[in-house]
Amino acid sequence: MTTVKDLQPHPLDQVHRLIEPGPVILVTTRHHGIPNVMTNGFNMMVRHAPPLIACTIGPWDHSYEALVETGECVISVPTADMATAVVDIGNCSGTEVNKFEEFDLTAVAGEEVQAPLVAECFANIECRVADSSLVPSYSLFLLEAVRAWTDPSQSQPRLFHHRGDGTFTLDGPTIDLKERMTKWQYLQ
Ligand SMILES: Cc1cc2nc3c(=O)[nH]c(=O)nc-3n(C[C@H](O)[C@H](O)[C@H](O)COP(=O)(O)O)c2cc1C
Repeated sequence: MTTVKDLQPHPLDQVHRLIEPGPVILVTTRHHGIPNVMTNGFNMMVRHAPPLIACTIGPWDHSYEALVETGECVISVPTADMATAVVDIGNCSGTEVNKFEEFDLTAVAGEEVQAPLVAECFANIECRVADSSLVPSYSLFLLEAVRAWTDPSQSQPRLFHHRGDGTFTLDGPTIDLKERMTKWQYLQ
């Protein structure tokens, strides 16, 4: 019989490495007319419809102030070939660098929000802050998707996931278990 004595204790400050969510996304904002972009690994879907996405964006980020003041952002979903740039984007601040220029990103105007889409990304989701009640305690923004776009030229996007320590897992093979989704057929 397995007891905890057979298991290895895992430090609490490393728990995020066990269930680090994903995929890694970019969050763009536009503050006083200036576009900016940051990297985000702590994100999750919260609701199907209307779509609600939770993102942790800390007050140490310039994007935090932009999001608090404008209430708008775009979630841009990069693919694995962008991983190096995405990490670099998350290691510098829009207060010091024009990241769209520095990383050769193409800003595209959306239809609902002022924050730019990133043309190189597989998907772009225009969002408005729907609930900021958890921001003071957890820096957690609940974002409602109001318009979404995908790039039809990227038919099989491979997303990537942060393992919490600077290593990343790339999307692997897809398996189809739709016939077992008897309770959730409406999702197909
Ligand atoms: C892989 C990776 C994941 C990150 N995830 C988050 C995150 O979930 N939340 C956050 O606030 N910052 C996260 N960061 C850090 C921000 O991207 C970083 O602080 C960035 O410099 C902020 O840019 P800004 O000051 O222009 O907003 C992450 C960075 C990397 C490299």
